[in-house]
Amino acid sequence: MTPADRNLVWHHRRIGRADYRRRNGHPGAVLWFTGLSGSGKSTLANAVEEALFAQGVYTYLLDGDNVRHGLNRDLGFGAGDRVENIRRIGEVARLFVDAGLVVLTAFISPFRADRDRVRALLGPGEFAEIHVACDLATCEARDPKGLYRKARAGEIPEFTGLTSPYEPPLAPELVVDTATTPLDQCVRQVLGLWERIRDS
Ligand code: ADX
Repeated sequence: MTPADRNLVWHHRRIGRADYRRRNGHPGAVLWFTGLSGSGKSTLANAVEEALFAQGVYTYLLDGDNVRHGLNRDLGFGAGDRVENIRRIGEVARLFVDAGLVVLTAFISPFRADRDRVRALLGPGEFAEIHVACDLATCEARDPKGLYRKARAGEIPEFTGLTSPYEPPLAPELVVDTATTPLDQCVRQVLGLWERIRDS
């Protein structure tokens, strides 16, 4: 059914992206962190947000565990629910970009097609995929939430990396390896990416 069939009409807003950009002094964009549980997505995204905030950049951080406490509390970890999780996050991220913000998202987002769909929602240069590429053994050794241990014990079905797939990005804007690279260096790499987006 088309929007017209549903009696929906798109209302054009008087204030648009160019207006926000002029006021904020920078464009809106999504920095999309993807990687296994325990790879360091949230830690890195938080550190990057802190640095951007200190520079006066208008930011917002969307984090998987937090969003699943509210907006996506009805979703689980089966493949269909993960697709819906990322679809909603993509739409939310697009709204925030519309509002001129730099949105940092920290979701496993294991399926390539879902991440590509979010990319397609945004304009050129507005979506940057950052692969937080930490090998499974290291993630499992860190096990910050004790979830790998539980999953190995059979207490968590469909756990990413063990019993549910993770599809790494094929052409991400940036790859950071948190297993071998110290946090401050990873932060600098992401800030470098942001500067390229801002200045392009
Ligand atoms: S995603 O796959 O749909 O993108 P999301 O990033 O929202 O996942 O949530 C992942 C977080 O949920 C993990 O960091 C972990 O704390 C928790 N979690 C609970 N069950 C699972 C599971 N089966 N697989 C992966 N993460 C899980």
